[in-house]
Amino acid sequence: MDTGTAYGMTMGRPLEELALVGAGTPFGEVLRRYWHPIALSEKVTTRPTSIKVLGEDLVLFRTRKGVAGLLHPRCIHRGASLFYGGVEDEGIRCCYHGWVFTPDGQCIEQPCEPEMGVHRDRMRQPWYPVEELYGMVWAYLGPPDKKPVLPRYDVFENLAEGEIIITNDAGVGGGGPIELDFNWLQHWENVMDPFHVPILHARFSGEQFTPEMALIPEVEFSYTPTGVRSVQMRDLGERGRLRRVTEVMFPNVRVVASPKLSGGTTNMIGWVVPADDTSFRILTLARDTDPDFLRKLRATHDGKPWAELTADEHQSMPGDYEAQKSQGDISLHSEDHMTTTDQGIAMLRRMMAKQVRAVAAGTDPAGIIRDEKLAVVQIEGGNFFESAPESVRA
Ligand code: FES
Ligand SMILES: [Fe+2]
Repeated sequence: MDTGTAYGMTMGRPLEELALVGAGTPFGEVLRRYWHPIALSEKVTTRPTSIKVLGEDLVLFRTRKGVAGLLHPRCIHRGASLFYGGVEDEGIRCCYHGWVFTPDGQCIEQPCEPEMGVHRDRMRQPWYPVEELYGMVWAYLGPPDKKPVLPRYDVFENLAEGEIIITNDAGVGGGGPIELDFNWLQHWENVMDPFHVPILHARFSGEQFTPEMALIPEVEFSYTPTGVRSVQMRDLGERGRLRRVTEVMFPNVRVVASPKLSGGTTNMIGWVVPADDTSFRILTLARDTDPDFLRKLRATHDGKPWAELTADEHQSMPGDYEAQKSQGDISLHSEDHMTTTDQGIAMLRRMMAKQVRAVAAGTDPAGIIRDEKLAVVQIEGGNFFESAPESVRA
């Protein structure tokens, strides 16, 4: 008799505790303890935009005096959306009856009321704090009394002559759509999956990066104070060994050095920012002298960018987008068959569950910074070429 057929199979469940991002969900509350980059500064203007972050609909704008604001869209007066508001020097004016709100939600004008609204001081439009750093707007959506210091990163500090910070919101790698249409965790976990590189990015997609990346690496995973790290060793024969270090830092940071193997500590970091449970954006920062550095890094499929592939080519040369999107809008994690090479994923999920418990117990999750003097995070990821052994060099 045949066994293991698909007849009568039932499907499992997502790991909702870790995958969901809304307010009140276990990992949603962990995510709300950190600052997140939500938009490139250059895209935040006096024209309000609708933006979804962690499942919350918000309106983002910049006052005429240059201050970024992030408000709940529903006007506290009678509910018109501030998306239709007009931005002025100090804030945004609701289109319906003209109430004006500052970036921190204070109501400073009620033009139809006597004396511009004698009780306006008592009313507050719900808002979130934002800061600007490295050309990005960062938001904190968590409990006000737990707001940490906005981290800085050693790799973006002390720029040399000619170096600039490059920002990107289109994602790197697969070069898929700006807003990716599946659960963020599928993408973030993938950072701790070095074994997919020689298969998906070499055997399937055609050599997407460099010939070295087609070699199956020897990998060691370890916990760090702020996340999980993988060290991937590749033997390059007479050229010695390549030690590639990749990190995830809580709650959604990806430290993936150039797959085109420029040497040294990485010059770029990405954030996997959930818009809601089934969509996310990747915001990336890089330091280089070439403003096109990130654009040039984009993976190609037989020389073609992802967006230009036909449906047939997407099937015959799948990349990160095809692999991760096809896991489902939210993957059914309980159906996974994890093996030895999934150790990094298992470690990451365990560390995520630990942060859920930490937040539920009222303590800070990993990597929270409270002391301004400690705000600069040290990055260890990169590509390091170790010289050839004596025997080869001789
Ligand atoms: S609904 Fe916004 S001012 Fe009336
Ligand atoms: Fe990949």
